[in-house]
Amino acid sequence: MANDMEEKLKALALAAKKSLENGANPEELKVKYLGKKGELTAILGGMGKLAPEERRTVGEMANKVKGEIEALLADAARAADDARLEAELKGPKLDVTLPGRGLRPGRRHPVSQTLDDIVAAFGKLGFEVAHGPEIELDWYNFEALNVPADHPARDMQDTFYTGGSTLLRTHTSPVQVRLMQKQPPPIRHVMPGRVYRKDSDLTHTPMFHQVEGLLVEKGPVTFAELKGTLDAFAKAFFGPSVKTRFRPSFFPFTEPSAEVDVSCTICGGKGCRVCKETGWLEMLGSGMVHPNVFTNAGYAPGTVNGFAFGMGVERLAMLRYGVNDLRSFFENDYRFLEQF
Ligand code: DAH
Repeated sequence: MANDMEEKLKALALAAKKSLENGANPEELKVKYLGKKGELTAILGGMGKLAPEERRTVGEMANKVKGEIEALLADAARAADDARLEAELKGPKLDVTLPGRGLRPGRRHPVSQTLDDIVAAFGKLGFEVAHGPEIELDWYNFEALNVPADHPARDMQDTFYTGGSTLLRTHTSPVQVRLMQKQPPPIRHVMPGRVYRKDSDLTHTPMFHQVEGLLVEKGPVTFAELKGTLDAFAKAFFGPSVKTRFRPSFFPFTEPSAEVDVSCTICGGKGCRVCKETGWLEMLGSGMVHPNVFTNAGYAPGTVNGFAFGMGVERLAMLRYGVNDLRSFFENDYRFLEQF
């Protein structure tokens, strides 16, 4: 019985050696001979039937055979590795001198830059920043701002309604009302943010940005202060040599109202294609806060005074950089964005 097992073990060692010489895969051989269901394990399974003194000799022999096969397999694996490396070295060379691909550095989007510059310019004049929701109640967006029920801006054609009484705000003016409800005068704030309108052409996109401004005092506030503030802003934003012009206009939430023009940033006011030969570019809307707005916001009528203004950020960016298609700000073409 013991002799029989010794024969088998010797035969096993020989067979493994032969297979390797014939080019068998060392990994497969390892499983075949040394694995849990391998041949060596099968042979050792018969050990229990041996007499105790026989067990020792057969056990020693089995360990020796196991060691031999393991050594053979390790040698074979090493040889295979060497051969692979040798082949690689003889093959085509990897050119490590090729220049790498550079990473493009990021930068602020021109609309973000413009928005930051507007807020910073008003910051120097003492204005703080406030925010309001983009999904707004009809009441804040229109009603509280003295926009009558039959006003064209309320048309489904112009406004994205999101529910019975909710909509995507069409301007940042509703933040004025929310701010006044939250705190008593004095108020001196700018309110930047996204706004939405059903519009799309060269100078309109369905989403754009505005910055609203509001100044409210318990004492008197004059139209001259409004003019001084906006003139100072224009000079800070466009440069000290620009001039401003106030034209009478109409907004439901201000009385009197004015549209403010800035002398053309391209021709300096002489007249060119950009300003359509007028020498002026439209910059923003403004006016003295309408008493109805104060009342709607919860301030006692006659006790407060203030002015307000609102401007389109993309519009100011276009004026400043001489861009004529608003949509290029939102196409995210690197060649366009990298110029700013
Ligand atoms: N909300 C106006 C718009 O979207 C802009 C505006 C005009 C805001 C005059 C004001 C203002 O606060 O006084 O066109």
